[in-house]
Amino acid sequence: MNARPPAAEEDRGLGPASTLIRNGRLVTASEDFVADLLVRGGTVAAIGDSLDGQADRVIDATGRYVLPGCVDPHTHMDSPQAGTVSCDDFTSGTVSAAFGGTTTIVDFCFQQPGQTLREGLATWHEKLGRAKPVVDVGFHIAVTDLGYGGALDELGRLPAEHGVSSYKLFMAYKGSLMIDDGTLFETLRVAARSGALVLVHAENGEAIEVLVSEALAAGHTEPRWHELTRPPLTEAEATSRAIHLARIAGAPLYVVHVSCREALEPVVRAREAGWRVWGETCTQYLFVDRSALHAPGFEGAKYVFTPPARGPEDRESLWRALDGGSLSVLSSDHCPFRFADQKALGRDDFSRIPNGAPGVENRLPMLHHFGVREGRISLSRMVELLSAAPARLFGLAPRKGTLSVGADADLVIFDPERPLTISSETHHSNVDYSLFEGTEVLGAPETVLVRGEPVVQEGELVASPGHGRFVERARFGEPLAVRSALG
Ligand code: URP
Ligand code: ZN
Ligand code: ZN
Repeated sequence: MNARPPAAEEDRGLGPASTLIRNGRLVTASEDFVADLLVRGGTVAAIGDSLDGQADRVIDATGRYVLPGCVDPHTHMDSPQAGTVSCDDFTSGTVSAAFGGTTTIVDFCFQQPGQTLREGLATWHEKLGRAKPVVDVGFHIAVTDLGYGGALDELGRLPAEHGVSSYKLFMAYKGSLMIDDGTLFETLRVAARSGALVLVHAENGEAIEVLVSEALAAGHTEPRWHELTRPPLTEAEATSRAIHLARIAGAPLYVVHVSCREALEPVVRAREAGWRVWGETCTQYLFVDRSALHAPGFEGAKYVFTPPARGPEDRESLWRALDGGSLSVLSSDHCPFRFADQKALGRDDFSRIPNGAPGVENRLPMLHHFGVREGRISLSRMVELLSAAPARLFGLAPRKGTLSVGADADLVIFDPERPLTISSETHHSNVDYSLFEGTEVLGAPETVLVRGEPVVQEGELVASPGHGRFVERARFGEPLAVRSALG
């Protein structure tokens, strides 16, 4: 990168902190061309050939991709579970996100027992306020008790009044997060009116509870029983149920972390019928095999996430669905728990292992190497899955998710030849292991800008702490107004 001292405002007429990115390969979900891109006042000010004008910074992006910053709509920072709290807060988690080319996360705010939805939101705003995020952050609301403190009324107001335009419901985790079908249906009906997208964790929690209790009663305590007690059809059944309830309620539905062929089928059928249903899978379901949970000793606990890892045919189906459009988004479901002392809580009982795994930093390099480089998806499809689609579905477009004049200058300058070895030794999360330890990829973010400000530069963190902001998202299907040039 060539940096030079800022010229006087009147000389350059570009406003503060302008950046000119020269000669990059600009890739969006629909376009792919070589051009210059000018950033001014945090937004994209111009795109064109040989742009004239001076800037505070000039970046030569020859041989690099210039991508819209990735949007990860499924993270769990500072999130309580199983008597502990995920080990990345909104500082470390967003630093890790930035190194992976993610410039916006949408995280799950949970209504805790005895809290109204607004109190739940206030708790998550406090967590965010205590941290120094370096990328932008939105919240989904996870509803656990619609009967408490006027939650049903509050729910309808969240999209318009709080910029929280997605509701999450868990059909599993009996005894903690699981809701009943009445709650799911009522939430879907509110969403149909309020302009929210409903997200479901689709697994039959009642059936799983029976299988887990039986396994424990028989003395089966090892991590592999996590996988053995959550068969694919428990996921398929809940997925179908949620889709049909959404159809009756007239609400749009987004099925998170689809893991297997059986659960993919109802999503495919619904989409072929033209219903408003979208499916997401996560990086780990493309790479981790169920056999990882069967590793000797307690090692399998690293791979305890829900739904569990499946088999090779499932992974093949997920890749085909990502390419063909049956699945719309690849998220990380970043939910890190340290192996040493947090996963260890379930050493004598697999059902007490905190569920979740890290990955917010790995999504783009893994999808680029194994998806694009190995010919499974195109470069534009990668941008669609990681950036454009989540921005559109979660009320962030057109401000985020694309490269266009007026959009936020959330940019990834990506070197497709840069070697990267994924490892917990070098990643930026607080967690002490990686799902993809030792995996060697070609292609990594080099420089990452959030609203025009570099947060990662040549592989170094350069962000002003706290640069990341809370983003109020638009209602489902509506555009998020672009900010004024200097906003
Ligand atoms: O295992 C997982 N996925 N943990 C995070 C919570 C959830 O179900 O998404
Ligand atoms: Zn889930
Ligand atoms: Zn999750």
